[in-house]
Amino acid sequence: MKTYGLYIHIPFCAQKCFYCDFASYSGKEKYVEPYLKTLDKEIRLKTKDKVFDTVFIGGGTPSFLSAEELGVLSDSLKGLKLTQEYEFTMECNPGNLTEEKARVIKSMGINRLSIGLQSSNDHILMDIGRIHTFNEFRKNYLMLRGMGFDNINVDIIYGLPNENVTILKKTLDDVLDLKPDHISCYSLIIEEFTPFYYKHKKNELNLPDEETERVMNALVISTLQEGGYERYEISNYALQGKKCQHNIRYWEGRDYAGCGTSAHEYLNGERQENVRTVEGYIRRMEEEGSASVREHQNSFEEDVEEFVFMGMRLLKGIEKKRFIERFHVTMESLYEEVIQKHIEDGLLVDTDEYLRFTDKGVEFSNHVLSDFLLST
Ligand SMILES: C[S@@+](CC[C@H](N)C(=O)[O-])C[C@H]1O[C@@H](n2cnc3c(N)ncnc32)[C@H](O)[C@@H]1O
Ligand code: SF4
Repeated sequence: MKTYGLYIHIPFCAQKCFYCDFASYSGKEKYVEPYLKTLDKEIRLKTKDKVFDTVFIGGGTPSFLSAEELGVLSDSLKGLKLTQEYEFTMECNPGNLTEEKARVIKSMGINRLSIGLQSSNDHILMDIGRIHTFNEFRKNYLMLRGMGFDNINVDIIYGLPNENVTILKKTLDDVLDLKPDHISCYSLIIEEFTPFYYKHKKNELNLPDEETERVMNALVISTLQEGGYERYEISNYALQGKKCQHNIRYWEGRDYAGCGTSAHEYLNGERQENVRTVEGYIRRMEEEGSASVREHQNSFEEDVEEFVFMGMRLLKGIEKKRFIERFHVTMESLYEEVIQKHIEDGLLVDTDEYLRFTDKGVEFSNHVLSDFLLST
């Protein structure tokens, strides 16, 4: 039986963080009710006749919804057909998660939580626009553990303004003390048109220099690995049995449906993307019965490239058998010279079963992957 992933986007946040360019908005509370009503329609439309083994409610801040509003979302998901061993994640922000909301979340069948912390340094948290302190995060985390949530991810960002190696080390140690099941650790990206983008242009962001950023990257890898976490994707670390199955679906190029503003979808080689704004989403769904603004049927070359670019993010690499099943040709037949060249450079390892990066290769992954382009 073919199974699917389902992504659901909640585009509301209490306050917009200064680095963030996700489709997430503050001050749009009046749209929550019509948004959830519209989302209900899209969820029902896109989930009938499908069985899901992973569901991910992301944002934005899903925990921004009140307990009653979470109840409305829960009703939209009542008819969802799930496999026995499903993984059902929801993203939460420490500034607005209460025990009452957590009880509703639990009753919805959500069995994995992803909490955005970013740093354990309160000055840094304030400087990046977060609405919580480290202690508030810690209290939330312990409350959730006490309620029996046994699969929790914590998000960290490093390379933040005014951050140094000592501050990052303290963040990593503080998080390790809590033993979350999974840690996502991203290096800060200055996204266009965010408050940080404009400050950076004026040279007003005190960012770590390139050498410090390199030391930070090495510190993240060694500290988390020594703490017992497997680095299974460039920015993702997990305890045994706790890798994020939903994200693995993206990296392995498997099918998923997407509902809500800015949600992407990949079904049978066709990509779709929903409109980003809340108003546009409600209007389009009402007038056209669809919020999609971009549809694209991948060519063979595009499909192969996406498969390779996403699959190589996983440190185990690409399973060659799956490549043949999917494309009816071997990886070697398309990429023999490129693979050979980067094996000789010490950047790729080619075994009978997998093609993957070496440790050095991960560092230079963009450079290597640019050689895997077929369509240009
Ligand atoms: C969509 S956010 C949702 C989490 C939740 N809203 C929160 O912030 O607590 C997922 C994660 O992406 C990461 N992220 C967002 N913008 C980023 C950026 N510009 N650079 C690096 N990481 C970023 C953060 O770690 C964030 O927790
Ligand atoms: S990082 Fe999370 S809380 Fe902050 S604006 Fe983005 S989605 Fe909202």
